[in-house]
Amino acid sequence: MFVTGAGRRYNGVIRSVMAEPLTILTVVGARPQFIKAAVVSRLAAQEDGVNEILVHTGQHYDANMSSSFFEELSIPEPDHHLGIGSGPHGAQTGAMLEAIEGIIVKEKPDWVLVYGDTNSTIAGALAAAKLHVPVAHVEAGMRSFNRLMPEELNRVLSDHVSTLNLTSTDTATANLKAEGIEGNRVLQVGDVMYDAARFYSDKTGDPCELLSGLGVEPGGFILATLHRAENTDDPSRLASVVEAFEGLGSEHSIVLPLHPRTRAALEKTDGLERLEASVILREPMGYLEMITLEREAVLVVTDSGGVQKEAFFHGTPCVTLRDETEWVELVESGWNTIVPPNDPAAIMQGILEAVGTTGDSIKPYGSGDAAVRILDALASTRGGVLA
Ligand code: UD1
Ligand code: UDP
Repeated sequence: MFVTGAGRRYNGVIRSVMAEPLTILTVVGARPQFIKAAVVSRLAAQEDGVNEILVHTGQHYDANMSSSFFEELSIPEPDHHLGIGSGPHGAQTGAMLEAIEGIIVKEKPDWVLVYGDTNSTIAGALAAAKLHVPVAHVEAGMRSFNRLMPEELNRVLSDHVSTLNLTSTDTATANLKAEGIEGNRVLQVGDVMYDAARFYSDKTGDPCELLSGLGVEPGGFILATLHRAENTDDPSRLASVVEAFEGLGSEHSIVLPLHPRTRAALEKTDGLERLEASVILREPMGYLEMITLEREAVLVVTDSGGVQKEAFFHGTPCVTLRDETEWVELVESGWNTIVPPNDPAAIMQGILEAVGTTGDSIKPYGSGDAAVRILDALASTRGGVLA
C-alpha cells in the first residue's frame, strides 16, 4: 500500500521509510475524533511498518462520550490517557499542551496526527510544531469565517502550524490556498467520516429493536442533536430551540440524544423539563445507533459538523441550526438548509419545509479511501520533509 523505499529527512537525518517503522503519534480527545481516528487507526494496525501511539487528552470522558466508542469501533486502548477533562479554554488547552509536549519528547514520533477542530486538535498541533515535529491535520481547511467560534480559531491555527494539511473537499483546499497554504503542504484526500460511514453502515444490524425501543417508525421521526457553544451558551437561542422542539413535538416524533453540555445548560432553566415532556430525550448514543437513526429519520436537525455530513451520507435531508456551515456543498446542492436558531416560529417553519426535500447527486467527499491516502502520505517523503 505504501510508497516504499523513499527517504525522509526528519530533524536533519535521512532515513528510509522501510528501514524502521513509521511512528505516528495521534492525538484525540473528543467524540468526533474517536470516530475519525477509528478508520485510520484500524488501517495503521494492519500495517507492519506503522507504529501508532494513541494519545487521549480526556477532553471527553463520560463513558457514552468516550470509552463506548473505543469498544464499539475497536479502537486500541490509548497508550497515553491524559485525563485533562473539562475546563475553560485556556486551562484545558494549556494542560493538554504541556502534557502532549512531554509525550512527544519521550516518544519521538515521525508525525503527530490531529483531527478536526477541537481544543485537543490545536494542543496536539501546537505542541508538535514547537518541537519541530511534522504535524498532519485531518479535515484541514474547513472555514465558517466566524471567529467567534472556538472551533474556527482552532482550525485556522492548526492549519497554519501544520506541515501537511489533509483536506476533505475542494472548498477546504481553496480556503487554504486563499490563506497562502498550498503546494506540498496540502493534500486533498477526501473525508475520513465518509470512509467511516461506508465501513460501518453495513454493521448496524436490524434497526427494528432500536426504533421500537424509541417508539418510532422508519421514516416517521426527526433526529436532532444540539451542542454548539453558540447555541447552548446563548440563553435566547437555547430557549428558541426548546420552544420550537416543544411546538413540533406535539405532532412529530423528535429523537434527541442529548450532549452533556446541552443537558447542563438546559438544567439551568425549565428547558430540560419541557423537552422531557415533548420529545424523545436520550443519553448520547453509540455511533452505530446514531448512523442507524440518521438513515431511518425523515429529517436530521443539528448543529453538529459531523452529523450534517452523515445525514447526507445516509440520504437524509438536514436542517442546520446555525448561522453558517463549513460544509457549504451540502447547502448548495440542496441537502442542507441553514436555519439560524433565533426565532421559534422560523425554526419550526424551516424544519417543516425541509421534510421530504432532497438534494442533487453530488460526490464532494472523495472515494472512501481517505484513510489509505492519509497513511500513504505520511509514509512518503512528501509531507515529512521539513521546510
Ligand atoms: C467539543 C468541541 C467541539 C466539538 C464537540 C464534539 C472544543 C472547543 N469544542 O465541544 O468543537 O464539536 O466537542 O462533541 O474543543 N461534558 C461532560 N462530559 C464529557 C464531556 C463534556 O459532562 O464527557 C460537559 C462538561 O460540562 C463540559 C461541557 O460538556 O464543560 C463542554 O465540553 P467540552 O469538551 O469543553 O466542549 P464540547 O461542547 O464537548
Ligand atoms: N454521535 C454519536 N452519538 C450521538 C451524537 C453524535 O455517535 O449521540 C456521532 C455522530 O454520528 C458523528 C459524531 O458523533 O459521527 C459527531 O460528533 P459531534 O456532533 O459531537 O461533534 P462535531 O462533529 O460537531 O464536532
